[in-house]
Amino acid sequence: MSSPRRPLVGGNWKMHLTVVETTAYLARFVPALESDGPEVVLFPGFTLLPAARELGPDGSVAIGGQDLHPEPRGAHTGDVSGPQLVDVGCSWVLCGHSERRHDHGESDDLVAAKVAAATAHGLTPMICVGETADERAADRTLEVLDRQLRAAVGAAVGAGVDRYALAYEPVWAIGTGLTATPQIAQDAHRFLRRLLAEVAGETRAESCRILYGGSVNPGNAADLISQPDLDGFLVGGASLDPEKFLTIIRACGS
Ligand code: 13P
Repeated sequence: MSSPRRPLVGGNWKMHLTVVETTAYLARFVPALESDGPEVVLFPGFTLLPAARELGPDGSVAIGGQDLHPEPRGAHTGDVSGPQLVDVGCSWVLCGHSERRHDHGESDDLVAAKVAAATAHGLTPMICVGETADERAADRTLEVLDRQLRAAVGAAVGAGVDRYALAYEPVWAIGTGLTATPQIAQDAHRFLRRLLAEVAGETRAESCRILYGGSVNPGNAADLISQPDLDGFLVGGASLDPEKFLTIIRACGS
C-alpha cells in the first residue's frame, strides 16, 4: 500500500561547513534533485543561511533554522528568533533536537514554547523526539516519546496549527553508526502516529510526516523507508556529502 504522505527528507548540517563549502555543495546538489522527488529541506548553521537561500532558480529546496528562541526579539545573547529566520528565507525550524535538549538543557516546556513561537511566525516546526540508550534499556522508550510528543504537539494544537512534522531520532542512534532496525523504527513511528491521533485527531495523524533520524546512510535508507509509518528521514552526517544525501533522497521515491 503506498503512503498518502509525500516523503520529506531533511539534512541537518549541525555545526559543519563554511559559506564557501555551502555554495559548492549547493552547486552540486540542487541541479541533481528530481522535480517529482521527495520534499527536501536543509538545516544549515545560522551563518550559512543567507548563502543557502541562493539555492537555485526553482526553489526546489527549502531551508530551516536548527533552533529558535521563543521570544521574537530581546536581550538574549547568542540566540536567534523566529522573525530573524524568516528574514533570511527559512520556512522550517527544528524544535527539540536531542543535541539541544542535552547540550543546552532544553526542557519539554521550553521546546513547547519554541514550537508555539515557530508557528506564530509562520515557520513549520520539525519536532524532534527520541529516547536515550539508558531510557531504552530501562524500557521507558514509550513513556519518553509520549511525554515529549504531548508537550510539543500540544503547543501546536493549542495554537490552532496543524503545520508540523515529527522526527523520531533515538539518541543512541545519532552519530553512532547504530541505526534502529526497520522494525524498531516502525514500532516507534506507529506509536507516535497513534498518539498523534489522540492529541491532534485522526485526520492529522494520517497526514503528518514522521521522519526517522539516526545514522541513516545510503546503505540502510531503502530498508528503513519500506516501513509503512516512515515518511522520510532527518539526516545528519550523511547529509554533508551531496552524493550520499542524494542517494538517500532517491531511496524515498516520490
Ligand atoms: P546522524 O545522521 O549523523 O546520526 O544525525 C542524525 C541527526 O541528529 C539528525 O538531526
